[in-house]
Amino acid sequence: MKLARIPWQGHKAIPVQAAWATFLILLASGQTNAAGQDDIMSTDERIAGLLDSMTVAEKAGQMSQVNGAGGTIPDNLRASIKAGQIGSVLNEVKVETVNELQRIALQESRLGIPLLIGRDVIHGFRTVLPIPLAQAASWNPELVRKGARMAALEAAASGVNWTFAPMIDISRDPRWGRIAESLGEDPYLASVLGVAMLEGFQGGDLAAHGSIAACAKHFAGYGASESGRDYNTTNIPENELRNVYLRPFEAAVDAGVATLMASFSELNGVPASGNQFLMKQVLRDEWGFTGFVVSDWASIEQLQVHGFTANDKESAYAALSAGVNMEMASGTYASYLAELLAEGRISMAQIDDLVAAILRVKLELGLFEHPFTDPSTFPPTANEGNLALAKQAALQSIVLLENKHKVLPLAKTSIRSLAVIGPMADDAYEQLGTWIYDGDASISQTPLNAIRQFAGNDVSINYVRAMETTRSRSSEGFDAAVEAARAADAVIVFLGEESILSGEAHSRADIGLPGNQAELVDALHAAGKPVIAVILAGRPLTLHNIIDKVDAILFAWHPGTMGGPAIADILFGVESPSGKLPVTFPKMVGQVPIYYAHKNTGKPPTPETYVAIDDIPVRLPQTSSGFVSNHLDAGYEPQYPFGYGLSYAAFAYSGIEISRDQVPMGETLSVSAAVKNVGAVEAEEVVQLYVRDLVGNVTRPVRELKGFQRVRLLPGESRKTVFVLGPADLAFYGQDMRLITEPGAFQVWIGGSSKAELQAEFTVIDH
Ligand code: NOJ
Repeated sequence: MKLARIPWQGHKAIPVQAAWATFLILLASGQTNAAGQDDIMSTDERIAGLLDSMTVAEKAGQMSQVNGAGGTIPDNLRASIKAGQIGSVLNEVKVETVNELQRIALQESRLGIPLLIGRDVIHGFRTVLPIPLAQAASWNPELVRKGARMAALEAAASGVNWTFAPMIDISRDPRWGRIAESLGEDPYLASVLGVAMLEGFQGGDLAAHGSIAACAKHFAGYGASESGRDYNTTNIPENELRNVYLRPFEAAVDAGVATLMASFSELNGVPASGNQFLMKQVLRDEWGFTGFVVSDWASIEQLQVHGFTANDKESAYAALSAGVNMEMASGTYASYLAELLAEGRISMAQIDDLVAAILRVKLELGLFEHPFTDPSTFPPTANEGNLALAKQAALQSIVLLENKHKVLPLAKTSIRSLAVIGPMADDAYEQLGTWIYDGDASISQTPLNAIRQFAGNDVSINYVRAMETTRSRSSEGFDAAVEAARAADAVIVFLGEESILSGEAHSRADIGLPGNQAELVDALHAAGKPVIAVILAGRPLTLHNIIDKVDAILFAWHPGTMGGPAIADILFGVESPSGKLPVTFPKMVGQVPIYYAHKNTGKPPTPETYVAIDDIPVRLPQTSSGFVSNHLDAGYEPQYPFGYGLSYAAFAYSGIEISRDQVPMGETLSVSAAVKNVGAVEAEEVVQLYVRDLVGNVTRPVRELKGFQRVRLLPGESRKTVFVLGPADLAFYGQDMRLITEPGAFQVWIGGSSKAELQAEFTVIDH
C-alpha cells in the first residue's frame, strides 16, 4: 500500500496508510463511524473519533489561535496550518484569504479540521451600530438582537465565524474606557441585552447560514479595574461578584453562549486566565458550561507578568489547569503542552476535555460541512435594511438629558437659520466609536449632512467646526462660531470625545469634556441664542460646567453609521427621544463609583440631613453637621440617575397594583401600573420596575431593576403594564454563597427611571 507522508509539528513526519487518511477525512465529515461503517455519527462520536486520531501536537494546535496577516498568508502560517498546529485565526476578514486558510486546514492538514475565524464584531461590521453602551440605552432587546444578527450576516460574508462579543462586564466606572463596549452598570439589564445580543449572533442554530459563535467576555470582573484604569487589579468580594458581576455571564451560559473569554485582569489576586475558582468551580461545576474558553490576547503569557507564574511553561500549566481551552496570540500551549503531559502534570483526559469543547463548537457551527464562504449567498453589506436598522438603533439610544423651556424639538416653521458648530458635527469617522475595524466611515451619515438634508431650502445652515478636535486647546475658531451663533435663530453644538478616547486602554481620570469645549459653550452662550448641545461620546461625561449654559442636551454616544439622520430626526421632532441611561452620570468624577443599586449604609443621607460644603458655618462643631454618607462638595445624588431620559411627551404613572400582598415562597406575583402619555406627541417610554428586599442575610441594594418594557403611546393614551416577579427575580447569593430567596418584606416601584416614585409592598411568606 502506498504511504502518505503527513507532516507533524513541522519537523517530524509520520508515515500513514492512505486508507487511514481517507478514514480521517470521512470521520471529520461525519460520514462514517469509528468502526468505519457508513452512517451518520453523533457529535460526541465525531469528537471522540477525532480525539482518538489526534497527536498531542495536533491537540495543542486546536488549542492555539494566531493572528491573521491582513489578507496574505505568509509561508509560516501556511505551514503551521498544514501541520495541524493552529485551531483558529483571528483578524482575517478578506474572504478569499479566509477561504484559502480553510482550504489548507481541510485539504492539506492531516485531519482536515476547519478553522475558527475570530473577529471583534462588537457593534456592527461594515454597517456600524451605536456602541454597545448606546445600544443598552435603547433598553430594547429585540433591537439589540436584530443588530447583532445584521452584524453576524455582514461578518459571515467575509468568512468570520466567531465574534468576541457580547462584552457583558458590569461597568460602574466611567473612567474605564471599555465602558463604551459594555451594556452598562446593571446586572439585570446587561443580562437581558447580553442574551439578546448573543442570540442575534448565534441565531437559533449555530449551523444556520449567517450564524456566528458568540463570546461572552471578559470573565470576570474586568469592569471593576481599580480607578477605572484599564487592565488594573480588581478586588471583588465573592458575594458582590456573584450578585453583580457574574450574573450576566450566568445568563449567557444559560442561553447557550458558545464561548467565553478570560479577562486580562486579576481577580482577588488570581489572574483570570489561571483562575480555577472562576473557570472550574463556577463556570463548569456550578453552571455546567459545555462551550469553550479562549484567553484574551497573550493573557496566558502575561500570567508571568502579573507575578502569578515564574515562566511560560508554568503559565501554560496554570491556564490548562484552570480550564482555558484556547490560547489567543501567545504560544505557551504550543510550546509546553506535550512536556507537561510527559511529566504527568496534565493528563490526556484533561487535554481531551479542553480540545473536545473546541471541536464541539466547530461541529455545531457546521464548519466541517460548510467550511467555505460564498459572499454572493449573503445580502450586500450596508444594504438599505441594515442602514435603516442602524438608524433605528441610534434613534432609540439617544438620551435627552435636558430640555429647558421645551427648546426641542426645533420647529422647522419658526427656525429660519441654524448655526451648527463643533468638532463632532461632521466627522464621519469619529461618530463610529471604538472597535470599528471593519466599519466603513465612507458610508457614515454625519449630523451636519442630515441636518442640511432635513432643513432643505427652508432653513439656512451655517457650519463652523470651531475646534479641530474635541481635545483642541485653541480658541482660534471661536469668533467665527460666535458670529454664526449671533446670526442664527438657534445653535446646535456638537461636542464630546473622539472614538479613540474610549475603548481598550483608553481610560481617563477626568471625564469632563476634553480640550476647550466648555469654553466654546461659554462663548456660544454669551451670543444669547438658544444653545442645544449634542454630545457624542463613549462614556458618561461630567457636564456640570455646561449644563447651565445650554438649553438642551442630547446625549448621542457614538451613534454609528446612521447617527446623523437619527440625531436630525430627534432635533426636528420626527421622533421623540426615548433612550434611557444604562449607567449613572456623576456630577463629579470624585463620586465614582456611583450606581443606583447601592447599599443603604447605616447612615443614609436625606435632603434634611445633607449638608453642602458652602452651608457649613465656620467653626461649626463637628457633632452638628450631619454624620450621613455624603460628599460635602457633590452631595449624594448623581447628575443623572440610571434609567433616566426625557421625552418630548410626558408620562404619568398611576394605579400600582400587586396581585397579592402575601406571596408564598417559590410562587409568583404580578405588579402592574398604568402609564399615560400626557404630552402632545406620540412617543415611546421605557417603563421600569425596581425591587427592594428590605432585610437580607446579606444587605440588599436600595433598588434593583427587575423588569422593563418599551411602550409606544399616542397623546392621551394609557396602557396598563404588567410585570411578573418570580422566585428567581427575588433571589440573591447570601452569606454562604448560595442563591436564596428569604421570606420578608419587599418594596416595588414602577416608573420611568431608577427614581420611580410609585410604590407598593408585598411580603414573601413561608408556606
Ligand atoms: C483584547 C481585548 O481585550 C478583547 O476584548 C479582544 O476581543 C481581543 N483583544 C481580540 O482583539
